[in-house]
Order: sequence, then C-alpha cells, then structure tokens
Amino acid sequence: MQVQQLMIVWSFKLLLAGAQDRTITYLFTRTCAVEGSTVLLPCSFTPLKSFIIDGINVPLKIIRVRWCRNHPVCQGDTPSVFDSDSLDVDPQFQYLGDMEGKCTLQISNIQLKDEATYRFRMEANDSAGHFTNPTGVMVQVEGNPVMRVTGSNNSEVREGQAVSLQCSTSPCSFHRVNISWFRDDHALPEAGPTLHLGPLTAKDSGNYSCALGTRTQSRSDPFSLQVEADSEGETSHRILGVAVAVLVVVIALAALMLFLVIKRRRSAVSRSAEQRHRGDVVLPSGPNGEAQRTDQNVEDVSYAAVHFKQKKPSRELQPHADDVVYSAVVTRG
Ligand SMILES: *[C@@H]1O[C@H](CO)[C@@H](O)[C@H](O)[C@H]1NC(C)=O
Ligand SMILES: *[C@@H]1O[C@H](CO)[C@@H](O)[C@H](O)[C@H]1NC(C)=O
Ligand SMILES: *[C@@H]1O[C@H](CO)[C@@H](O)[C@H](O)[C@H]1NC(C)=O
Ligand SMILES: *[C@@H]1O[C@H](CO)[C@@H](O)[C@H](O)[C@H]1NC(C)=O
Repeated sequence: MQVQQLMIVWSFKLLLAGAQDRTITYLFTRTCAVEGSTVLLPCSFTPLKSFIIDGINVPLKIIRVRWCRNHPVCQGDTPSVFDSDSLDVDPQFQYLGDMEGKCTLQISNIQLKDEATYRFRMEANDSAGHFTNPTGVMVQVEGNPVMRVTGSNNSEVREGQAVSLQCSTSPCSFHRVNISWFRDDHALPEAGPTLHLGPLTAKDSGNYSCALGTRTQSRSDPFSLQVEADSEGETSHRILGVAVAVLVVVIALAALMLFLVIKRRRSAVSRSAEQRHRGDVVLPSGPNGEAQRTDQNVEDVSYAAVHFKQKKPSRELQPHADDVVYSAVVTRG
C-alpha cells in the first residue's frame, strides 16, 4: 500500500521533470496581529511557463488567482477571501498582487473571526499550471493585548530637552491602529504609536499611558516622566557670560576713543611747535598743548571719525579712562 503511494508520487514527479518548477513563497508563515490592525501577507510566485504534451511544448498563462481561509487546496468552489474571477469583492481583503509573480494580500481592520491560515492558489489555462502552496500563512489575532509605554530616554529629563514615548505590544504587533494617549488620566490629542514631547517644560511631567483605539480597558501601565528644572547655577552663569561680553565691548570702545584723542593731541602739539619754529602767528595753546584754532579742531574731529570705524582697541591705554571723558567734551565744544 505504502509502496504503491510512493510509486504514484515518483511517477508524478517524473511527469513534471523537464518543465521548470512553479513556486509560491510566503515571506513568513506565521504572524500575530492586534485586533483592528491592518495585516500584510507578503507573497510571490513563479508560474509554470509551459508543459509538454505528446512531445509538444504548450505555453501556459495564469488566468486566475485566489486566497482562501483554512482550506488546504483552495480549488473549485471553495469559498475564498479573494478571487480574481469573482465580482463580489470584500474590501477588507485587498489583493496587492498581479498575474505575473506578486501575490501579496492585505487584510484591513482584522477581527478575531479572521484568525486562520491563509493560502494562495494560482490557476493557468491548463490544469497542469494550477498550484497551491499548502503551508500558507497562519495569522493569529490578539483581542486583549498588553500595552506598554517606553521612553527614548530614561524617565528623568531636563527642561528644554526632547523625548519620545513609544506605545507597543508584544508578542503581537499592531499596524495602522489609532492609539490613544493619556497624561494623568487626561486624554491627549495625539493618535500615533509615538508621542513626541519637547522642548519640555515642567508641565510635561506626569504619568503617561497609551491604549488601543478607544478601548480604554487596554490601557498600559503608566510611564512616569519627570522634567527637571534647568539648574539656577547654569542660568546665572549664562547671565554672567553676557555681562562680561558687554563689558569687553564697552572697554574696547573707550580705549579706541582714548587712542584717537591722544593721537590728535600729539599731532596738534607737533604742528603748533612747527608753526612756532617758522615764526608764524598762532593762537596760544591750552594747558594740555591744545590748539585753540577752530578750523583745526573740525579737521581733527573728522579725522577721528574716519579712524573710529577701524576697530583698533588698545588695552594699554585703559588706565586713562578719565581722559576719555574730558577729551570727548573738549572735542564737542
Ligand atoms: C494558454 O495561453 C497561452 C497564451 O495566451 C497560449 O499560447 C496557450 O496556447 C494556452 N494554452 C492552453 C493549454 O490553452
Ligand atoms: C535624551 O537625552 C539626551 C541627553 O542625554 C538629549 O540630548 C536628548 O535630546 C534626549 N532626547 C531624546 C529624544 O533622545
Ligand atoms: C483613527 O483616527 C482618525 C482621525 O483621528 C479617524 O479618521 C479614523 O477613522 C480612526 N481609525 C480607526 C480605525 O478608528
Ligand atoms: C504617578 O504615579 C505614581 C505611582 O506610580 C504616583 O506616586 C504619582 O503621584 C503619580 N503622579 C501623578 C502626577 O499623578
């Protein structure tokens, strides 16, 4: 009996030898999804291109593709979830494949009743090309998942930083399901599996939890987020830094003015000395060698203004800060 069966299998295989093999490949053969998820069953196939009958090579063409639930062969009038020959299309089961090599099935909003083993079948214009991969894909549906919140950082973060919280389940995953978020039992507007928070303020501190859709009974355990205030030391350091920067600029400007005033005064002194030497008539000099001639003052002021734009701070002149004030008054007068 057993030998006979073996012989049949062998002769069947010999019949097929010579033609290339046909295959159906599922990316995975089991998956687990949370109720309400969209599940993708990735699938590809290679059809039998031709077969030999009476020594003649007859080409083949795939003319029908289908997916069945819990049926080992999926042939004939077996009920199917998708059938390319049927006009009665169930929008929950969408065929993302074709007649050439792709046979992926998408199941939207999966329910507990959809828990099954799904198998793909292709049919050619001759039964020699018909084929079903009996392994199929086993889909498990979880109606009461345990939700969990995990943080991208540990639960203690500082003000101004960013953190993202992830809502997940295991071992079953969810895909394209709305997630509700809560902070201290108040619903948040976000609906995605990841909650992005930041820049953080003290108000973001609290116990966060997530749930599947509107089913609040599936709520996760809380994730406690503590936002630490930025330390006062750091703030005062920052203020001190700004103050120092302002002071440096003020000193540099003062030094520049002093430098220009001294330069002007020296040139005035040397000029009046020169004029005296040539016996010219000049107005008497001030106590600091300051020439009293108005036209020369005007000339010097414009000279100083031109040089004021070339930033040439001289720190060595800082001790004469009093002179700056005095000279500035003199120049304007
Ligand atoms: C199947 O279809 C192909 C292409 O249309 C054709 O060449 C071939 O003869 C058909 N085979 C059979 C057995 O009808
Ligand atoms: C996590 O902490 C680091 C510093 O430890 C911080 O730079 C980052 O912004 C924080 N947030 C995220 C989402 O990594
Ligand atoms: C998810 O939320 C969006 C908008 O918030 C809504 O339009 C959609 O119907 C929801 N989907 C489900 C499966 O509840
Ligand atoms: C967060 O939960 C902890 C216990 O898990 C509790 O001690 C704390 O008071 C809660 N915080 C808030 C803001 O509800």
